[in-house]
Amino acid sequence: MTKLAPSILAADFTRLGEEVTAALEAGADYIHVDVMDGRFVPSISFGFPILRAVAPIARQYGATVDVHLMIEQPERYLEEFAHAGADILTVHVETCPHLHRTIQAIRELGVKPGVTLNPATPLISLEEILPDVDLVLVMSVNPGFGGQSYIPGSTDKIRRLRQMLDVIGSAADLEVDGGISPENAAMIADAGASVLVSGTAVFGGPNTIAENIAAFRRALEQ
Ligand code: DX5
Ligand code: ZN
Repeated sequence: MTKLAPSILAADFTRLGEEVTAALEAGADYIHVDVMDGRFVPSISFGFPILRAVAPIARQYGATVDVHLMIEQPERYLEEFAHAGADILTVHVETCPHLHRTIQAIRELGVKPGVTLNPATPLISLEEILPDVDLVLVMSVNPGFGGQSYIPGSTDKIRRLRQMLDVIGSAADLEVDGGISPENAAMIADAGASVLVSGTAVFGGPNTIAENIAAFRRALEQ
């Protein structure tokens, strides 16, 4: 079954605990935490204190704390993110000249390593590292902001990555992030995604978080 990973970037920060709890009550599988440094991506989001606040709530529900690091030199902060409650730490290939070392360092901290790539970065840049990761994240928008439109070419990239994972017999999650809603969720899952990230379509709009998550589930059942 396709997993849902609500991104707290789009949550109401004045009521963060309530919003995360509502997503978990509605059956969110992962809680996706977007860390931005204002250097690798233009915007600055949040860091350790927010992760420390959210991780124990996710843990109460048995959900996975999925941390997406959009920061330069992520190797400098792995230990602190691990201690702050990350279950998965995903780094961008574009930020890691010594990606193999970084992935090993994450695993040695007892955290699942993930790797991701920008829309214009080719899948071939992942070929050597695929056997070593527990999650591969396909960015379907340019990272840095919520609320952007899904880049259509991402679907073919997901299909090709699914083939690459199947060829090596990898059970890694294939996660997709950016511009995902109940309207395109089934298409993305059919292409081979196993985890869908969504910020705006879960926490934004006029409907409740529970209604939004139910809409995803309905879309994915068809
Ligand atoms: C973008 C982030 C996404 C973002 C998704 O840089 O990595 O996780 O929160 O937001 P939506 O679902 O609004 O595109
Ligand atoms: Zn993200």
